[in-house]
Amino acid sequence: MNLKGRNFLKLLDFTPEEILYLVDLAAELKEKKKKGILTKELHSGKNVALIFEKTSTRTRCSFEVAAHDLGMETTYLDPSASQIGKKESIADTARVLGSMFEGIEYRGFEQEIVEELAKYAGVPVWNGLTNEFHPTQMLADILTIKERLGRVQGVRLTYMGDARYNMGNSLMVACAKLGMHYTACTSRKYFPQESLVKQCEAIARETGATITLTEDVEEGTRGADVVYTDVWVSMGEPEAVWEERIRELTPYQVNKEVMENAGSQAIFMHCLPAFHDLKTKTGKEMGEKFGITEMEVTDQVFESPASVVFQEAENRMHTIKAVMAATL
Ligand code: CP
Ligand code: NVA
Repeated sequence: MNLKGRNFLKLLDFTPEEILYLVDLAAELKEKKKKGILTKELHSGKNVALIFEKTSTRTRCSFEVAAHDLGMETTYLDPSASQIGKKESIADTARVLGSMFEGIEYRGFEQEIVEELAKYAGVPVWNGLTNEFHPTQMLADILTIKERLGRVQGVRLTYMGDARYNMGNSLMVACAKLGMHYTACTSRKYFPQESLVKQCEAIARETGATITLTEDVEEGTRGADVVYTDVWVSMGEPEAVWEERIRELTPYQVNKEVMENAGSQAIFMHCLPAFHDLKTKTGKEMGEKFGITEMEVTDQVFESPASVVFQEAENRMHTIKAVMAATL
């Protein structure tokens, strides 16, 4: 398998074999890290640029730690500190950064921005989250599912919440590619875009995957191996949508009843950050405004033995390391 020089923009660009290769490479790198075996010689002396037009904890730290573990230096460009898009076009930025760095990570808004960056950079570009997709998160999730359930093919994954944004879209694609059974369990308004559903259904026909969209919680979560959710309002969306989201998505909260309906084999996943209590500024504000104590997932489920969210978060670093190691 040779992925040298490839971009990592969305899973749709990769074959199932390539995706699983990256996940296996991540598992190998994880084992090395745990044993204290250094990997600095792999890309020693290289430099990578990390562009974040939206905030981040996991993705930024994963890229930084992974780059350092691979012997590389990093330059972080924060949401306010670059000229990108404001004073300089994406194509110009790409050509400048491409002349100084061996690879570029981009987190931001439209998918077309990261695609444009990749078109002009001349070096690998990695998508650290756009409105449409979050592909590095998918590798971490697949690794976590493999570690916990011992398999990927045939796994039944139910996603609850806003299924038409980056996480819902990416999970539907990941499931289609890897022969998993994907269910979006949410209000019709939050179903994924028809064109992406069609595209995933075509992939699913080749891999044995299935795609189901349902508004029925009982039916949508019954027997699920993985129950997955994400925040109800994503970065970059207006504050004004909170009220509507809380009203429309509360029936799709992951709680004890949902997990019991899934069954004792089920694990709970969340890309994080999560609103499972009032210990965040936004959580507290919403709590006061709408008289609630938790949102997309109850604290009980979040803190339960079925919850694998912190293993999932750790795996961000190992999988991002695999992406950089393989494409540079
Ligand atoms: N899951 C994830 O992407 O987390 P951050 O926003 O903290 O990077
Ligand atoms: N849907 C979320 C994912 C965060 C990792 C967002 O875009 O804010």
